[in-house]
Amino acid sequence: MEQEETWAKVDEYFSARLAEPDAESEAVLNANASAGLPPYDVTLLQAKFLYMLARIHRAERILEIGTLGGFSTIWLARALPPGGSVVTLEVNAAHAETAKANFERAGVSSRITIRPGKADESLAELHDEGAAPFDFVFIDADKARNAVYFEWALRLTSSGAVIIIDNAVRNGAVLDEFSDDEDTQGVRAAVEAIRREPSVVATALQTVGSKGYDGFIMAIVDRDQQAT
Ligand code: SAH
Ligand code: DHB
Ligand code: MG
Repeated sequence: MEQEETWAKVDEYFSARLAEPDAESEAVLNANASAGLPPYDVTLLQAKFLYMLARIHRAERILEIGTLGGFSTIWLARALPPGGSVVTLEVNAAHAETAKANFERAGVSSRITIRPGKADESLAELHDEGAAPFDFVFIDADKARNAVYFEWALRLTSSGAVIIIDNAVRNGAVLDEFSDDEDTQGVRAAVEAIRREPSVVATALQTVGSKGYDGFIMAIVDRDQQAT
């Protein structure tokens, strides 16, 4: 078997046993494909991984940058305790509309606020509005601006918050320091921003699966400077 085929089959193996698609998840992924959205949704196993991180962390105020059809959003919303909420930012009006319909169908719309518009502007607005600090942030929009979003995430979170950045490996492209791909440079810029920031602890996790070879960066805002 080709490597990629094995990765996809292993995803299927675990998915079928540990993360069988529920009716809502299937409906969302079908709706997104039918609406012609790009296939950038996290996989079901990844969605469940995010859900589990949010649960382990007991996240109550989640910020997502990059909604698409809201597949990751719905799984993050499912992790919330009563009274918890997700704010998700999406620039593309058609994506936002698809997401909104998905939230309603999945019965989670009361826990999710979708803010249409450029993430930069929404983040500045959230800051100016004095929005209560977030305790979990999922960065998954235009990768070229990853470092900018990371800086906003720091401003909008409380100490102890978890920040996850998707698509940090890009089939190994992250290694190319002279890449002319702005998304790759965006990942590298975020890594440098994290590295320069004394108040975070961070790691990276490479992943393979049905979406190929990629990975997550994970950071914890640690303003109290616990030893690592
Ligand atoms: N989190 C989703 C996938 C997001 S794909 C999931 O896993 O299910 C990336 C999304 O970011 C796309 O919908 C794209 O329209 C959006 N996006 C790109 N640039 C953006 C920007 N500047 N501000 C807000 N959203 C943006
Ligand atoms: C791309 C974006 C994503 O969020 C993702 O998970 C996979 C690919 C992309 O822009 O190519
Ligand atoms: Mg992604």
